[in-house]
Amino acid sequence: MALKLNTSLAGQTLKNPLMTASGTSGHSTLLSNYFPLEKLGAFVTKGVSSNAKIGNKPPRICETPSGLINCIGLENPGIKFFIDNYLPQFPSETLPLIVNFFGNSVDTYIKAAASLGQIEEIFALELNISCPNVQKGGILFGSDPIAAGDLVEKCIKATQGKPVFVKLSPAFSNFLETANQVMQAGAAGLTCFNTYPATDIDIQSKSFKLSLGKGGLSGPAILPLSLLKLHEIHTHFPEVELIASGGVNTAEDIIKYILAGANAVQLGTSILINPTSPIVLLDSLKNLCLKMGINNLMNLKGKVKG
Ligand SMILES: Cc1cc2nc3c(=O)[nH]c(=O)nc-3n(C[C@H](O)[C@H](O)[C@H](O)COP(=O)(O)O)c2cc1C
Repeated sequence: MALKLNTSLAGQTLKNPLMTASGTSGHSTLLSNYFPLEKLGAFVTKGVSSNAKIGNKPPRICETPSGLINCIGLENPGIKFFIDNYLPQFPSETLPLIVNFFGNSVDTYIKAAASLGQIEEIFALELNISCPNVQKGGILFGSDPIAAGDLVEKCIKATQGKPVFVKLSPAFSNFLETANQVMQAGAAGLTCFNTYPATDIDIQSKSFKLSLGKGGLSGPAILPLSLLKLHEIHTHFPEVELIASGGVNTAEDIIKYILAGANAVQLGTSILINPTSPIVLLDSLKNLCLKMGINNLMNLKGKVKG
């Protein structure tokens, strides 16, 4: 029997559950130098905002034993530049495109949602209320469930019907309440999660390794943490469509997230380590399914026992 890897999000079938994680494959089709992008279930862009943003000063990335800490600071060329120069490069007929966006105030979030919402080539939006690496906006909304719900409702209204997935922060103990508020506000689903606030220190210079003094931890170190929280969200809100993001580096990791309740799984740091990782993982996912006697991957969704 043929192996079925397809999944669905916001009523659209994706050929497989793998997608890029925002910020790890740029705003354009650079990754197509390594493999045909259409092999992905969907492509998620780096975050864009109404106005261009230069991000934080270097150093903006440092490695840890099992991941990396970044404080890029949401550098991007602005939505107009993205639409004029990068959007036309995406094979949007064969590759569902998800555009990640943010603002630094309610008004700039709404403005971004309105500009992106009217673009037919975009399948869905991912609303970032969870970036730990900027001084203003982002995570401030993610820390307050009521403010998050209000922001999401206003953005959804501005998009005029485009599905909006809300990317949550794992950094707050009230993440279940935030999940509840943003779903009530009309989100299509949730991306679980962004990076974890973290830092590292260079003992020779006695300085922080990152210009901002801190950043967000990603990579294998965070998988068990995000897996637990995603499963808690799935347990409380079993109907909600969840996109997993955090630490995926093997086919086994993909299956773990699906067992915990995910509909789709993002690859972030894994792509920074090896840009061919999506096709390497796709092949090894197929082999693993065959070995485990799985013929429909999504039959595993939420099926963790105990
Ligand atoms: C260098 C870098 C840049 C990132 N930029 C963004 C961004 O612009 N918007 C966003 O929502 N998340 C951003 N993230 C978070 C990732 O999308 C992802 O949620 C997180 O890294 C956890 O996944 P991973 O462990 O597979 O990397 C960034 C992560 C990294 C490492």
